Amino acid sequence: MFIKSSLITLALVMSTSATPLVGGLGTAVAIEKRNTLTKDDGSFDHTGAIRQVVRDSNKHRRNLLNLERNEGIQAFNEGAHVRPVANLTSSFTGLTARQAESLTDEGNDVYWAGPISIGSNKQPFYIDFDTGSSDLWVPSVNCTSSTCSGKHKYNDNASTTSARKSGQFSISYGDGSSVSGPVYTDTVTVAGVTAKGQYFSPVTQLSSSFAGEKMDGILGMAYPALSQFRQSPFFNSAKAQGTVKAGVFAFKLAKSGSELYLGGTNSKLYTGSIEYHSVNTGSGFWQIGSGNTAKVLVGSKAVVSNIQTIIDSGTTLIYGPPSQVATFYKSIPGSQVYDSKTGFYTFPCNAVPSNVAFSWGGKSWTISAANMNLGRVSSKSTQCVGAILGHDLGLGKDVWLVGDSFMKNVYSVFSFDQNAVGFASLK
Ligand SMILES: *[C@@H]1O[C@H](CO)[C@@H](O)[C@H](O)[C@H]1NC(C)=O
Ligand SMILES: *[C@@H]1O[C@H](CO)[C@@H](O)[C@H](O)[C@H]1NC(C)=O
Ligand SMILES: *[C@@H]1O[C@H](CO)[C@@H](O)[C@H](O)[C@H]1NC(C)=O
Repeated sequence: MFIKSSLITLALVMSTSATPLVGGLGTAVAIEKRNTLTKDDGSFDHTGAIRQVVRDSNKHRRNLLNLERNEGIQAFNEGAHVRPVANLTSSFTGLTARQAESLTDEGNDVYWAGPISIGSNKQPFYIDFDTGSSDLWVPSVNCTSSTCSGKHKYNDNASTTSARKSGQFSISYGDGSSVSGPVYTDTVTVAGVTAKGQYFSPVTQLSSSFAGEKMDGILGMAYPALSQFRQSPFFNSAKAQGTVKAGVFAFKLAKSGSELYLGGTNSKLYTGSIEYHSVNTGSGFWQIGSGNTAKVLVGSKAVVSNIQTIIDSGTTLIYGPPSQVATFYKSIPGSQVYDSKTGFYTFPCNAVPSNVAFSWGGKSWTISAANMNLGRVSSKSTQCVGAILGHDLGLGKDVWLVGDSFMKNVYSVFSFDQNAVGFASLK
């Protein structure tokens, strides 16, 4: 298997050698951030951000289609609706030329990735761990297009535990491409944690939006209700098979020392107690905010209240309903609409807000100025782009999609055992 960089080699070695056990309870997976939406000169990568918005839109469109099929329309949040495929050319004018250019750009990858293996012969993959979807896919040995070149590819012939299943997996993307392939089962291992007979798709078609990225594929960690395979996602399989004791996993997302912990929480990484909030399990997402407790604060003032939030490690930014986000930015001095199509706003770079917080009825969990700021509009601009954008992804009337720009500020815990999401202060 072709290994792309020494960083990845190191990560893979970690996954196959003795797994570090913390507290004897669970397993730590070292994960790393590839890059940000801020360019090296400190300016905002607008093209990369728009591509990200299109990708997020299509991921959640697929989630809603799966949810509707699996659970019926009654499972939807109020106001949620399956939208047409988000389309770069029709939704975002002036992007076509830049889109073509950005495909060769390797610097825009935005996700937290780590190693897994698939098959009896432990074929290695470098994977985005995504709490905002529920299926696993990796490139197939049969993906011969240039979008798959340089990626690890699953070869069923080389694994004695591989089995072909009926059906087809597919997610459409607005550039006319899709991620699609057949359905298989095989043994999947993440650090020491193994799930046998795990459903996944070795994809033969890979959207060009994934082409330049080092990530091979995605491992979904949300509820089974979102699964296109209609099968148990990896972590649920591992729990059911007893290879992980607790149905709990946790993330630390940071510049360095990032970690996904499977089977509990790593008490070395946080202080104080974990503040848990019940999940609205009907939605299939890690969605919290029941009882009208959730709000967005600027300082001590609640500027938007009675919201629902989906906690999504596979989303870089924070999306809110456009009208609520407009209300929010009214409380940010000097803020302006930057890109009304996508929903980005700016604020003065010398007054980046450091007092924006989410609360679910307990503590206020603050987003640092560094995590609020995506960079200058251009290298000499005095306005900076905010990590909260107003864009309707179809997820529901008062639903905010809360991604890494928030998760980087806290230790976040996802518990199937309690059907709850918890937050604690990072050490
Ligand atoms: C790839 O294609 C070959 C030939 O059609 C087939 O035998 C094999 O099962 C396919 N592998 C995967 C992973 O789809
Ligand atoms: C896998 O095995 C099948 C059947 O023997 C063969 O047709 C196919 O070409 C093989 N695929 C690869 C990638 O080796
Ligand atoms: C995207 O929108 C443009 C303009 O409306 C249309 O011509 C094109 O076919 C669309 N592409 C896809 C993949 O839907």
